[in-house]
Amino acid sequence: MKDIITLGIESSCDETSVAIVKNGREVLSNIIDSQIKIHEKYGGVVPEIASRNHIEAISRVTKMALEEAKVTFDDIDAITPTYGPGLVGALLVGLSYAKALSYSIKKPLVGVNHIQGHIAANYITYKELQPPFLCLLISGGNTQLIYVKDYTEFEVLGKTRDDAIGEAFDKVARVVGLGYPGGPKVDSLAKEGKANIELPKTHMDNLDFSFSGIKTAVINLNHNKPDINKADLCASFEKTVTEMLIENTRKAIKQTGLKTLAIGGGVSANSYIRGEFLKLEQEGIKVYMPDMKLCTDNAAMIASSGYYNFIKGKRDNLNLNAVPNLKL
Ligand code: KG4
Repeated sequence: MKDIITLGIESSCDETSVAIVKNGREVLSNIIDSQIKIHEKYGGVVPEIASRNHIEAISRVTKMALEEAKVTFDDIDAITPTYGPGLVGALLVGLSYAKALSYSIKKPLVGVNHIQGHIAANYITYKELQPPFLCLLISGGNTQLIYVKDYTEFEVLGKTRDDAIGEAFDKVARVVGLGYPGGPKVDSLAKEGKANIELPKTHMDNLDFSFSGIKTAVINLNHNKPDINKADLCASFEKTVTEMLIENTRKAIKQTGLKTLAIGGGVSANSYIRGEFLKLEQEGIKVYMPDMKLCTDNAAMIASSGYYNFIKGKRDNLNLNAVPNLKL
């Protein structure tokens, strides 16, 4: 069978990324131009600045991705950009570039849902992984339990009713004075602390999550006891949210009968969460988690999803628009 090469474009938040992927699983290049340094001084991503920097980076990053993969536009079978969810201005840069490229080099345009991309990061890391499986998606914008029925067929079993878990990590980091991006900083400080502070857990009667209660509790504790040990607070926060994640994941495993679990999204880079989820293997669950560099936003996972959409026959036209709140 002929190889299929997809060119993935990701610009939903603060990473401009372009990747070339063969047959959905083999990464020929994955260039990531991160804007973290630019947004650091504002304590978070400033949407307008993100869009401007995507515009500045997109052509350069595309050129680098082609060069590193040693391919030309002629070798590409489909252009597969993220079209949502994300920041609308940021999405529009990658999507408009993809549309212009598709028109000028006469290659099909195949839009990708960013959440689908985070799931696909696992296909790149594990060549043997195939649906069906359960996926716990934990990122800066989303927290969802997803029944992955097939490569392009999903059922959302549960989701957060308020903050995404990554937002809660970032908020905790900000209030204890760690700055942006918060998740990785909470991860390292927690290693120096003890999880000895009791924090509230929110239990739902279904598979939904809620992180606003614990986030507020950390803010209040930090405010009322300014000399509280910050490392202990981070470790306690991390332990409590992990218990909440595992509790619902166990319920979903029981409900679906699935024995294969994949995690994905930026927060799946958290070392404590990775360690605790791996323990589920002792209960007979096969646990997959993407390589660290594929957990946070990147275009390789988008090109992988683009491949599966493409072989399923999905094609978009130049009317494809950015959808900031796109659902799976
Ligand atoms: O997946 P991602 O890059 O963007 C979205 O698609 O939302 O996720 C970014 C989120 C941020 O909230 C960041 O703080 C968090 O992932 N994150 C982490 C870690 N690395 C990134 N959270 C906890 N521990 C980490 N090591």
